[in-house]
Amino acid sequence: MEFRFTPMAEADAQAIRAWCYDPPYTTYNAADEEPAGFDAMAELLDPRSPHFAARLVSGAAWEREPPAGFFAFGSACEVGSEPEAPAAPHLHRADGSMTIGLGLRPDLTGRGLGLPFVEAGMTLARERYHPTLFRLFVYAWNQRAITVYERAGFTAVGRAGAPGGDGQPAFIEMTRLP
Ligand SMILES: CC(C)(COP(=O)(O)OP(=O)(O)OC[C@H]1O[C@@H](n2cnc3c(N)ncnc32)[C@H](O)[C@@H]1OP(=O)(O)O)[C@@H](O)C(=O)NCCC(=O)NCCS
Repeated sequence: MEFRFTPMAEADAQAIRAWCYDPPYTTYNAADEEPAGFDAMAELLDPRSPHFAARLVSGAAWEREPPAGFFAFGSACEVGSEPEAPAAPHLHRADGSMTIGLGLRPDLTGRGLGLPFVEAGMTLARERYHPTLFRLFVYAWNQRAITVYERAGFTAVGRAGAPGGDGQPAFIEMTRLP
């Protein structure tokens, strides 16, 4: 199975924003996530912290298939305030590290596609952006995602974000060398 990535187009962004995850993953539904006044379409299409649509290559017409997932790179994927954060959207932190975000289409989750998807996105990022370190933030309750990230070589390095139900920051920060 092969994933291919294209810079996020408006139609892809609209399709991805309509995705609807089942519980307990509803927090990843676009409408659940966005604070009032936040322009999510603008963020998805902003090349300064770029988003890519992913498609599964299955025959010659793969480009006409709906997105199978997305990857995002840079400040759009940060949780809380990064050290010495510049105001404008950006790709790398000052130390050359890069934060990533991702999602498989709801009907493709839970089928073992996560690991090849994560590896394909990191290959894209390595080749295009040459980060010194990969970082991601994942909800501490999302064991399915954490399992995939650990299998991809990420390790937990701390917590971040506003406190969750247990009083601890809601996100686990994980990193991996490129
Ligand atoms: C996170 C994501 C990439 C994971 O990929 P996936 O293909 O769905 O994951 P998998 O099906 O490979 O499952 C990974 C492992 O977690 C296990 N798992 C699934 N649900 C679980 C749960 N509730 N608790 C513990 N383990 C669970 C699976 O059994 C599997 O382990 P196994 O291979 O030993 O059976 C994908 O689900 C996704 O993109 N989801 C979108 C929403 C989301 O969670 N985003 C995370 C953003 S940080």
